[in-house]
Amino acid sequence: MISIVVIVACLLPVSRGLELKGLFGNFTSPQFPNRYPDNQRMVWNITVPEGHRIKLYFTHFSLEHSYLCEYDYVQVFSEGNETVKFCGDADKDHEDAPRNTVLYSAGNTMSVVFRSDYSNEGRFTGFQAFYTSEDINECQSIVDGEPICDHYCHNYVGGYYCTCKLGYLLHPNKRACTVQCSGQVLTQRSGVLSSPEYPRPYPKLSQCDYHIRLPEGFRVALEFPEPFDVETHPDVPCPYDILKIATDREEYGPLCGTTPPARIETGSHDVRVLFKSDSSGKNQGWKIKYTATATPCPNPVAPPHGQIQSPQPKYIFTDSFDLTCKLGYELLQGGKYLSSYRATCRKDGTWDSPMPTCTLVDCGAPDEIPNGKVSFSTTTYQSTIQYSCNAPFYIMKGSGDGIYTCAHNANWTDSLGSTLLPECVPSCGKPQSGKLSRIIGGEKVGKKEIPWQVMVLMGGQFKGGAMLLGDDWVLTAAHVLHGYQEPANLLVKMGLVQKNDAEAVVGFPERVFLHPRYRHDGVNFDHDIALIKLGRKVPISAAVMPVCLPERDERFTLRTDDLGRVSGWGVWKEGRRRASPQLRYAEVPVVDFEQCRAAYRSIKADDGQHLVVTENMVCAGLTEGGKDACEGDSGGPLVFYDDVSARWFVGGIVSWGYECAKAGQYGVYTKVSNYLSWIDEIMESNR
Ligand code: ARG
Repeated sequence: MISIVVIVACLLPVSRGLELKGLFGNFTSPQFPNRYPDNQRMVWNITVPEGHRIKLYFTHFSLEHSYLCEYDYVQVFSEGNETVKFCGDADKDHEDAPRNTVLYSAGNTMSVVFRSDYSNEGRFTGFQAFYTSEDINECQSIVDGEPICDHYCHNYVGGYYCTCKLGYLLHPNKRACTVQCSGQVLTQRSGVLSSPEYPRPYPKLSQCDYHIRLPEGFRVALEFPEPFDVETHPDVPCPYDILKIATDREEYGPLCGTTPPARIETGSHDVRVLFKSDSSGKNQGWKIKYTATATPCPNPVAPPHGQIQSPQPKYIFTDSFDLTCKLGYELLQGGKYLSSYRATCRKDGTWDSPMPTCTLVDCGAPDEIPNGKVSFSTTTYQSTIQYSCNAPFYIMKGSGDGIYTCAHNANWTDSLGSTLLPECVPSCGKPQSGKLSRIIGGEKVGKKEIPWQVMVLMGGQFKGGAMLLGDDWVLTAAHVLHGYQEPANLLVKMGLVQKNDAEAVVGFPERVFLHPRYRHDGVNFDHDIALIKLGRKVPISAAVMPVCLPERDERFTLRTDDLGRVSGWGVWKEGRRRASPQLRYAEVPVVDFEQCRAAYRSIKADDGQHLVVTENMVCAGLTEGGKDACEGDSGGPLVFYDDVSARWFVGGIVSWGYECAKAGQYGVYTKVSNYLSWIDEIMESNR
């Protein structure tokens, strides 16, 4: 044994290893280009950067030639693979010499071994080898019979990377493309699901997890249409790719092969479909059609006068229907009216709400209105009712006829479709009694003959006249309220003829509106007009009734000689200067404006100033004198009769004059028609 060891040791060639790490380089046999020594064993280990390979070639090669290169040789190793041995002389055309052979490494390392035996009789010079590093195009390599990347391969110097088509994900192995097929939840009553790409081959390394989830009470059934093709093995069931169905109670599968599985009645409302594919194979996959059923509810039957909206042949769990009633009928359920009705089928096959009935719409007793009444007999659908205002003191506002019909929505509705109640407003300018067919030169007024006449008191003292407009407004002259401070200091009395009639209707002013341009300077009475809002509406009667306002119509324009009627408790006997305890009136014609103006041009007031008649004034009186308003009549009405409407309207407000009833002088009144807009505006904004 020992001798053998010695021999072996003796035969062992000189062994040297050299590491080559550059991107390129060369090496030679020892002592090149001279004869190489005997008993050599040399190894060059070439390493280039990762992702590169080594290209090796010989520019000189001259070794002893032997059968199978037994004696001297050069051998190349690359990643465990060895090449044939090279020997001989390239120039002598030896088969075993590398000649123009170019050698490539598979990876980034290569080892070259040189061996010489105990003799070099032929004085062979050995070899010179060169190497360079080259990028490996990994994209061209085939691994296990398949391209390195599933979809796209990108080579770069020193490496490569894979990418996937849109919608795919690169598997953690960095080469396979998989699909996102997890987490999908199907909640429809029926549907379809399949392996990715179906019926094209499903992707490798798929991990699919589908969930069919319906409300409790549904039962899901599955069907597998053709083609069904999941990779399998003739002997082992489903070793590669696996389709599984699972419910909370049961599991079906693994399913694979090419025969579609039979229909599965899962009996569950919650089904999971799991699919797993391995890293190889090309199979078309699978498709599942699922349907969910539940216990049906009894078919609904509509009550008389009712109808089921878009009825279905069958209703199961979660299905619902709406019931409506024919026009004029409404839904009644357990004594309650419903605005709509919907029933939904429960999982036990019963309806969640009892069927209502359709009863004739009833609008109920109509609302009462102030100062009016309503007459009706029936109140059901299409019944009509009649509103009327308490005649003769109230009339219906607007053009409505007061007829309302019970609409299908249970509202009393007028001919224009409005549900607003009619309004009863005071009738104006139509006294119930009196010949009214006659202050100074005036006549006593009988009861109820001038029902719009109002008396104004301030601090309990008689202040002047005024007139009623509507049932809570009083119109007067601004100067009557001279010295006025607050509404509480004022009082108005209506429905009286005798100054201290106990039956007077008292009104309490709430707000006072003097015309904003009125300036009482003792001379100029321009804009001598004011409105008083009463705190409470006055009941209209034969004794208390408003006067009409002129309309914006020619008919109401005052013309010279139009006979007006002025009324008041003022001085009634010129000279005696005594206020009348009894309401009086006088008939005075309208005087030509220029004539009146001329009459006042020569008159100077007590303080010596001229008295000015403006366009906002109208004069009335007789040239010969004898009839006029006087001290204490101020604020009172000068009214005119409109034949067309057979009503009295106000043309002027007693304002001023030079003395009373003198020949050639006239009473001056505020021209009401100039203030209609102001009156409207104040009344509208202070309802
Ligand atoms: N300014 C007087 C008053 O406060 C009314 C004057 C009427 N005079 C006339 N002559 N018309 O009562």
